[in-house]
Amino acid sequence: MKVYPQLLLIIVVTLTMISCNEKAANQIPVDQTEISTKQTPKELGRELFEGKGMCASCHKADIKVVGPSIQEIAKIYREKEASIAAFINEEGEPLVDPSQYEIMKTNFAITKAMSTEERKALEVYVMSFE
Ligand code: HEC
Repeated sequence: MKVYPQLLLIIVVTLTMISCNEKAANQIPVDQTEISTKQTPKELGRELFEGKGMCASCHKADIKVVGPSIQEIAKIYREKEASIAAFINEEGEPLVDPSQYEIMKTNFAITKAMSTEERKALEVYVMSFE
């Protein structure tokens, strides 16, 4: 059988991608529920965003992945003077990408179980993006 180098390359790349995806899926977010008294709301927000909130798996700073970028969300929420803390407590309408709202809604189970302070901290963190 003749071995095509291109074919081998495709196989290697595909396998690498699969194993990377598995790694990402298996990553368990570090539980950072311990809140230090010196922590600012923005720091807490970042911790929640990347940790138990799971937000970072769908939202990146400046590019759209599953969800809109954090910058885009902050921009639209500034323009409309809307509250992210209210939105993630299911008290608002989707303003950024209503067609994808159902996907975002799956995350409300986590955010609605958070404290008011934690939801506010997430808002402060997201709104800190220019
Ligand atoms: C499973 C993927 C996923 C996760 C996890 C996720 N989001 Fe989203 N998010 C989306 C998608 C898709 C949209 C676009 C739909 C929309 O605008 O409602 C969105 C939209 C948003 C919006 C804009 C809402 C609007 O007015 O349209 C905010 C704010 C937001 N997400 C915050 C968060 C925060 C904070 C977290 C973590 C607590 C989070 N998201 C976790 C997928 C996700």
